[in-house]
Amino acid sequence: MHSALRSYKGITPTLHENVYIDSSAVLIGDIELNTDTSIWPLVAARGDVNHIKIGARSNVQDGAVLHVTRKTPDNPTGHPLIIGDDVTIGHKAMLHGCHVGHRVLVGMGAILLDGAIIEDDVIIGAGSLVPPGKVLKSGFLYIGSPVKQARPLNDNERTFLPTSADNYVRLKNEYLAESENL
Ligand SMILES: CC(C)(COP(=O)(O)OP(=O)(O)OC[C@H]1O[C@@H](n2cnc3c(N)ncnc32)[C@H](O)[C@@H]1OP(=O)(O)O)[C@@H](O)C(=O)NCCC(=O)NCCS
Repeated sequence: MHSALRSYKGITPTLHENVYIDSSAVLIGDIELNTDTSIWPLVAARGDVNHIKIGARSNVQDGAVLHVTRKTPDNPTGHPLIIGDDVTIGHKAMLHGCHVGHRVLVGMGAILLDGAIIEDDVIIGAGSLVPPGKVLKSGFLYIGSPVKQARPLNDNERTFLPTSADNYVRLKNEYLAESENL
């Protein structure tokens, strides 16, 4: 088993094909990593009191923290963390019990709280705070603490979102090749 993976209550993270996980990351419990995802140094992801799912070709950059909220009688589903395909999660971002769509960029150091819903094709500026339950609409840039809708994404930014994910797929393939040579 990869040294970054740990089990909780007998459940160990599930990896699809061609996933890259830096050996300094820690991933615990009920976590599913889809094809071509990459997890960079010092990421902490804890799928203990609920589950975490990360879509294909998404990347979680250095120092990001991913966690979830448990199920209670008042909130029977709790707050799992669901991340879509082609998502870029910047360095040191904190994602807690929220739902991120496809082709989203979560800026460095952004904080996303329980129940937030980020629709497809959204950029969240570096250092932004997304309050609990807030819905960020598809096709917009959001910045600030708390986030406010800043403006619609331009064509370059819409193109950049899948490109950023592709760049990270290429980069992690280089890292995978490097680790095979050790
Ligand atoms: C928000 C962002 C996309 C820039 O958008 P932009 O429309 O080009 O913004 P500009 O640089 O023209 O700045 C416009 C205003 O927003 C402010 N601003 C820029 N980024 C900001 C941020 N993250 N939070 C708050 N305000 C921000 C600028 O200071 C400027 O303010 P002013 O008009 O009072 O001078 C960029 O700054 C950003 O945060 N990118 C995220 C990068 C990242 O974290 N990538 C992940 C790791 S690879």
